Amino acid sequence: MPTPEIEARASELAALLERYNHEYYVQDAPTVPDAEYDRLFRELQKLEQDYPVLQTPASPTQRVGGAPLPAFVQVRHVVPMLSIRTETDSTAAGALEFDASVRRELGMAETDPPVEYSAELKFDGMAISLRYEHGQLVQAATRGDGVTGEDVTANIRTIRQIPLQLIVNPSGRYNSVAPSVLEVRGEVYMRLDDFRRLNEAQLASGGKTYVNPRNTTAGAVRNLDSKVTSNRRLSFFVYGLGEVQEWLAQPDTQSEVIAALGEFGFPVCDLNTVVSGGAALAAFKDKIQSKRDQLPFEIDGVVYKINSLAWQRQLGFRSREPRWAIAHKLPAQEEQTLVIAIEEQVGRTGAITPVARLQPVFVGGVTVTNATLHNEDEVRRKDVRVGDTVIVRRAGDVIPEVVAVVLDQRPMRPTSGGDLFSSSEEPMYPAYRLPLACPVCGSHVVREEGEAIARCSGGLVCKAQRTQAIQHFAGRRMMDIDGLGERYIDKLVEFDYVHSVADLYRLTLDDLLLMKRRADEQDGVTPETVKAGKVATKWADNLIEAIAASKQPPLARLLFALGIRHVGESTAKTLADWLGTLHNVRRAPRAVLVALPDIGGVVAESIAEFFAEAQNEQVIDALLAAGVAPVDEHAPKAQLSDKLAAANLYARLNVPRLTEVRAQQLAAQQGELATLAALPRAAVIQLELPAEVVNALADWLDDAANRAQLQAIADYCRTLLAGLPQAEAAPQNEAVAGKTFVLTGTLPTMGRDQARALIEDAGGKVSGSVSKKTHYVVAGAEAGSKLDKALELGVTVLDEAGLLALLAS
Ligand code: IVH
Repeated sequence: MPTPEIEARASELAALLERYNHEYYVQDAPTVPDAEYDRLFRELQKLEQDYPVLQTPASPTQRVGGAPLPAFVQVRHVVPMLSIRTETDSTAAGALEFDASVRRELGMAETDPPVEYSAELKFDGMAISLRYEHGQLVQAATRGDGVTGEDVTANIRTIRQIPLQLIVNPSGRYNSVAPSVLEVRGEVYMRLDDFRRLNEAQLASGGKTYVNPRNTTAGAVRNLDSKVTSNRRLSFFVYGLGEVQEWLAQPDTQSEVIAALGEFGFPVCDLNTVVSGGAALAAFKDKIQSKRDQLPFEIDGVVYKINSLAWQRQLGFRSREPRWAIAHKLPAQEEQTLVIAIEEQVGRTGAITPVARLQPVFVGGVTVTNATLHNEDEVRRKDVRVGDTVIVRRAGDVIPEVVAVVLDQRPMRPTSGGDLFSSSEEPMYPAYRLPLACPVCGSHVVREEGEAIARCSGGLVCKAQRTQAIQHFAGRRMMDIDGLGERYIDKLVEFDYVHSVADLYRLTLDDLLLMKRRADEQDGVTPETVKAGKVATKWADNLIEAIAASKQPPLARLLFALGIRHVGESTAKTLADWLGTLHNVRRAPRAVLVALPDIGGVVAESIAEFFAEAQNEQVIDALLAAGVAPVDEHAPKAQLSDKLAAANLYARLNVPRLTEVRAQQLAAQQGELATLAALPRAAVIQLELPAEVVNALADWLDDAANRAQLQAIADYCRTLLAGLPQAEAAPQNEAVAGKTFVLTGTLPTMGRDQARALIEDAGGKVSGSVSKKTHYVVAGAEAGSKLDKALELGVTVLDEAGLLALLAS
C-alpha cells in the first residue's frame, strides 16, 4: 500500500498534469516545456505501476487508449438529449420569425425591450454528454436516440481538450467547488488542419482517405478500439448542460453557463456572443456566414437560444424540441449528385484538368453542373467513374470539387466470365484514364516526372492555348510586335483570323479593319466616325508594318517566343549561343540538350517534346515560309566539341547504372556512339566494366528504340561538329575562365548582354542568382538584393571598371 505521502504526490502529479494539459490543448498557452511534462508524466506512471491502487480512470496516464471493447454499453440519459428545430429559410426572415414567436409566446408587447439571446455556432461534429461526479469524469455517452446512447468513455478520455477532472478554483466565480453531478454537453469535432493531416498521412502510408471531418469524428468516437480514437486528434466545444446536482453557484443565463464551463476547463468557442432582438440575430448569422471559410473547423449553421434560463424553463418544449432555441441553417456546402461524364479541360497554359459533368445540384448557394477533379492521380485515388454518385463540395468562392464517391451506389453488372451460380459483379464503367491526345488539338499529352499535371504539347497549335501563345509570341521581349495587344489577339483568335502564330504574317490590312469593325460592334463601341463612313486605317498600317518588322529577330528571341515550356530568356540564349541555328536546335536530341550548360533533364525533355510534336513543327515551317528568319545564326560554339565528347553523352542517356565514371570508362573503350549503337550484344558483354553495368547497358541496347536514339545522337553530333569553326584554342583568361559571375544593377557604359558576352567569351559563366559558389558580382547603379546577398556571403564585388580590368588581365 502507498504511504500517505506517495498518495499525496500522485494526486498532486495528476492535478499538475491536468493543468498543463489544459494550458496546452485548450488555452494554447503552455507554461512548461514538453520535457517537464514528460518527466512528471513518467513519475506518475511509475507510481501507478508500483501501486496499482493509485491508477484511477481519471488519471492523465489513462488518456492513451486501452484494450478494445467487445461492444458499447447502453446509457440512459437522465435528462434527454433533445434536438433543436432547424430553420431552413436561410435569409434574415428566419431569425426575425424566431424572435417574433418567442415574444408572442412570452406574451410580450411591442413596447417591451428586445429579448436577449445567446448566439452560437452550430458545430458540425458529434453530440456528447460528459458526466462528472465530484469533479471526476465518470462517463461519456453519445446522443443515440436522445434517450439512450452508448458509453464511449474510454474513447472520450483520449481527447486532450476534455478535462478528466474539473478545474476547481476556491476564488472562482462558478467553480469554487465541484458540483456533485455535472453533465456537460457539447460537440466533439475534428479541426480541418487535423483532418487534412490525417488524410495526408493516410495517403503517404497508402491507406484510404476520409471523406469529411464529421464522419471521421463519428467513426473515431464510435470505434471499439480506443487506440484508434487516440490517434485522431479530436477537439471539443461545450454548449449546454444535462443533469446537475448541487452546483452552488449555478448561473442563470446560457451565456454564463458557457463561461462557467470555461472556468471548469472546457474549450469555449470565442465566436459565441450575446445579442438583443431578431435583427441582431440575423446580423450574427451574416457575420458567421462570411467568416465560415476562414474557420478552422466546420459548422452547419448557427444556434439562437434565449439567454435567460428562467424564460427557457417558462417556454419549455414542444414535441421534443425546445421552444427557446432554433438552429438557423447555412447553405449546405456538400451535396450528392450523379457523374454524367468525365471530360478534360485544356487551360491557357496547356494544363489538362479532368472535370466531372454532373447532374445539376444546388450546393453552396449555386447550381453546380461541373466539378474539378484536379488531375489524373486525384481521379484514380478517389476512383471517380461515370455513373457514380458523388459528394460535391462548394465552399465560398472555391471551384466546386468532387470530395468522394458513394461506393455502394456505383452501378454494377455481372462479371462477363461468371457462370449461373456465381454472382460476382464488376463496375459498369472502367477506371478513369487520361487521354493520350489533347482533346482540343490532338497533340500528344505529356506528364513530366514528379508532376501531377499533364499538359498538351501542342503549344503553338492548340486552340485552348492559342491566345496565350500569340500574346507571348508578340511580347516585347519576344518578337516585339508593337500594337498587337490583348484585345486584338483575342478577337483575331475568336473570329478565326489566326490559328497559329504563323498566321500573323499572312494578315492583310482588310483582315485587320474587318476584325476591328466586328470587335467594336460586338462590344458596342463602334465610334461615331465609323458610323459616318470614315474608317481609321493608320493603326492597321502600323500594325502590319510592326508584324513585318518582327520577321528578323535574334535567334534567342525567336526561341523564347515559341513558348516552349521551361524555356525562358536565359535558356533560349544558351540554345542560340551553343547550337547557333534554329535548325540545330530543332533537331537536337535530349542527350545533347542536357549536355549544354544550365539545361537540366526536365528542360531538355520539354524542348525535345516540343519539337517532336509534328503540329508545332508545321507552324515553325510556316513561320520560315512566311519569311521569318533569325538574323544572327552562326556556327555552333567551338567548345561544343568538349560538351559532345562521348563520355559526356553516354552519361546523359539515362542508361541504368551508367554513372559519370562508368561513362568515362565506356568512352575510353568505345569512343564512337555510332559504333556502340551497332555493337552486337556479345561484344557489349565483353566491355571491361563491372558486370552489372555491362548487363544494364546490354539490356538497354536490346531495345531497338534505344539503339535508334543512340544512332540519331551520333548522326546529329557528326553533322554539328563538322560545322564547327576550327577550335582556335580560345585565349583563356585565367582570372575569368570557369568562374561564375552575377550581374546586377545598371553599368555605366555596358549593356547587360554586352557584359555577359565579354565574360562568356573569356570562358566565364553568368548566373542569375548569388550563392556561395558565385566568384564575382558585378554591380552597377541601383543594384538591389543581389548586391546585399554578395556582401553577406563575402563574394567579391566589382564595378564596370573592375570587370574590364579583370577581363584584360
Ligand atoms: S443546443 C436542446 N448548441 O446540433 C438543445 N446544439 O439538434 C440542444 N449542435 O446534434 C442542442 N452546436 O450536437 C446546441 N451550439 C450548439 C450546437 C448544437 C452543434 C448540435 C448538437 C445536436 C444538434 C442539435
